[in-house]
Amino acid sequence: MAATPGDAPPTFEQLRWTAPGSELALLSAQPASCLASSDPLVRSGRALFGVPTLLGGQAAKAGLSCASCHINGRDNPHFLLSGVSSAPGTADVSNSFFSAARGNARFDPVVIPDLAMPGKISRDVREKALEPFLRTLIVEEFGGAEPSASMLDALATYVRAIRRCNPDAPVARTLSDQLRGIDDGMVGSATMLERGDAAGVRLSIAAIRHQLGLISERYPGAGFVGERAGLLSASRALQAIEEGGVDGNSDIGPALRRWKGDFDRRLVPRLQRVEGRSLYREDRLARALR
Ligand code: HEC
Repeated sequence: MAATPGDAPPTFEQLRWTAPGSELALLSAQPASCLASSDPLVRSGRALFGVPTLLGGQAAKAGLSCASCHINGRDNPHFLLSGVSSAPGTADVSNSFFSAARGNARFDPVVIPDLAMPGKISRDVREKALEPFLRTLIVEEFGGAEPSASMLDALATYVRAIRRCNPDAPVARTLSDQLRGIDDGMVGSATMLERGDAAGVRLSIAAIRHQLGLISERYPGAGFVGERAGLLSASRALQAIEEGGVDGNSDIGPALRRWKGDFDRRLVPRLQRVEGRSLYREDRLARALR
């Protein structure tokens, strides 16, 4: 539905760190990635990778997650954040913007690496170099809370599974990205529950709620009031489940599964029916961004 007069212009969280002129490119396409495995731990890691509250501090406040810089585990040539980037696609992760404790005095942004490619940090499972690297990144660079062993395990397992696709071409963004993100969050919450990791369960729920917010951005204006209300109430229902207590609560698994059943039955078909009129469609998005 085209924006009607009186509709506020759409807002997209991701545009806070997107180079001017690249808005349409960033919001309509994304680098593809192909995973070496769809193991539950890989999917749990992919869910955590998209949650801003994993990072804490200024990054979380801005809404930044690992995936903001490493889209689908790859890179982000459009990333531009004042005080963090020198040119689009670069970032200085040891900057005081993110962490007052660690921030060095130098401003030395580098090109955001594609995690599907071999890098400075060994991905070899036996060397276990990735886990301590990720811990330092989260706690010291970004000022986040201490991640649990299960979270680090999931994140490292995901990073190790990221591969280029063949052919390696960008793909369109669609509603199915967010639905997959929600499925990952469900797998993540089940995995963290099994491991008795309450903080991991909370972050997995946060991952799902973040994806609901991303869907909502694509259904703006008066034409989608009902869809947005449905998304908001789904998010609140998740919040209520979380506030009911995660630690040692044996009802949380069934409650989450009931939530997902409701979501799939009531909201997903409705969102899919009108996806063609939503801002997932590049032509509509282009008009809305003008
Ligand atoms: C603000 C953008 C940004 C965010 C957010 C970010 N990264 Fe990065 N990441 C970078 C940059 C830039 C580098 C390269 C740093 C360097 O070479 O000194 C990097 C390097 C890495 C590497 C090492 C790649 C190699 O060379 O082997 C890994 C792994 C990685 N990031 C994973 C993550 C994970 C996991 C998160 C979330 C916890 C994350 N990143 C969040 C920008 C970011």
